[in-house]
Amino acid sequence: MFQRLKTKFAKAPEDASQEVLDADNIPQHIAIIMDGNGRWAKNRGLPRIAGHHSGMKTVKRITMEADRLGVKFLTLYAFSTENWKRPKAEVEFLMKLPQEFLSIELSELIEKNVQVRMMGHKEDLPPHTLAAVEEAIRQTAGNTGLVLNFALNYGSRKEMMEAVRRIGQDVREGKLSPDDLNESHFEQYLLSSDMPDPDLLIRTSGELRLSNFMLWQLAYSELWFTNVYWPEFSEAHFNEAIREYQRRARRYGGL
Ligand code: FPP
Repeated sequence: MFQRLKTKFAKAPEDASQEVLDADNIPQHIAIIMDGNGRWAKNRGLPRIAGHHSGMKTVKRITMEADRLGVKFLTLYAFSTENWKRPKAEVEFLMKLPQEFLSIELSELIEKNVQVRMMGHKEDLPPHTLAAVEEAIRQTAGNTGLVLNFALNYGSRKEMMEAVRRIGQDVREGKLSPDDLNESHFEQYLLSSDMPDPDLLIRTSGELRLSNFMLWQLAYSELWFTNVYWPEFSEAHFNEAIREYQRRARRYGGL
């Protein structure tokens, strides 16, 4: 009885009809493409930025749920290298969200032992965005709980191109021989070098694509899609995704 209690999680509050999760098979790393903020807002006659603002609240809820379930890494696609093409006002709003989120939530994240990280191309970020994120990274660097990794100004192709460029440089400078290069070596040049690959990728809003997100790292991840828009994505949906993950057999190309 004790063993059963130990290895099964309590049901998420809104999820009482569903089977409980296996605590011994929680994905170590979950990556999420948080999509559908704009459509959620439009359906309510609200401006798109209201959708992003509401999406920020989902970030908080899902972070807390990931922490509760013992997920080790949660990577959230907050802004892509392609999102700069959006109207200036929307980009400016999105660039203020990390600051707003961290000013409200940082103390609780610290309390929960969460470590904040950022994965992306820092050079183009507005100074106020970068400063807020770097301050959170600094203040949580020693934390040993959930790693909350914001993919901010992130693009997988750019990440890989930069890795190749740096490898070329290291070869030219004699620090690396092309013969020694292997997959794990290549991974050290990626922005995710200090993290395991995602076990589970979630994308909300019904779109069935990867949108230049962690193309290398998702090679063997389990993919889970839902029609639910990100602002409405709940703890119960998150549990549902993990439950589906737990039903799958991961074979990595083997039998
Ligand atoms: C895609 O939905 C979403 C984004 C480009 C932004 C995601 C950002 C958040 C959820 C908030 C981030 C919060 C923090 C703390 C950094 P979309 O706007 O493309 O939706 P649509 O496809 O319905 O138009």
